[in-house]
Amino acid sequence: MGTDKETKINIMNSIKIESQILIRRCKLNDLEGVIEVNERELPEDYPYFFYKSILDNFPEGFLVATDKDNKVIGYVMWRVEQIPSMDSLKYVNKGHLVSIAVSQEYRRRGIGTTLLSNSISAVKKHKITELVLEVRVSNYIAIKLYEKFNLKMNSVKKNYYRDGENAYYMVRNADTN
Ligand code: ACO
Ligand code: ZN
Repeated sequence: MGTDKETKINIMNSIKIESQILIRRCKLNDLEGVIEVNERELPEDYPYFFYKSILDNFPEGFLVATDKDNKVIGYVMWRVEQIPSMDSLKYVNKGHLVSIAVSQEYRRRGIGTTLLSNSISAVKKHKITELVLEVRVSNYIAIKLYEKFNLKMNSVKKNYYRDGENAYYMVRNADTN
């Protein structure tokens, strides 16, 4: 899945796309850049402490893409939630994709795919049973990306967004490829 566009390099545990673009773990001083990309590319904005708490609690699934000047041009963040399992009183972990975005001028080069595939591998370390997310029903492009990762529409969350738009709730078993 998109691996043809990726070259794994050993130093810093980062992934290089095209020579200039790097995918790596988010650091504290990347947060301003992450927020800039989010505010430009998505209507769902969050306060600084929200990003900070994701970084503090689930750093392994918080990745950034950076350009040659180390400027953030994309990010992905996940949180791990405990939910009661369907068939027992035990709790299971699910990985919830909080947000992903790539700057407009860098889209369609495999960055979103690389962010997603590498963050999924990372959040799986939390022994999660399923991956979930919400996406605007009109967000055809993001839905296409999620379908590439075998996420399937599970239900519709009515009025999920502040402007009243519905969300698709998409789900995948964590062990599926
Ligand atoms: N038309 C149709 N399909 C597209 C297009 C397009 N213009 N762009 C991407 N896709 C689909 C394709 O299936 C593509 O796979 P392919 O290249 O193998 O055909 C797949 O998306 C992934 O393409 P990438 O190049 O890896 O993705 P990109 O780096 O462009 O990032 C992203 C995709 C993150 C969805 C980007 O379009 C974006 O930032 N959009 C705005 C923010 C957004 O909507 N984020 C998701 C919100 S929901 C949430 O965060 C839980
Ligand atoms: Zn969500």
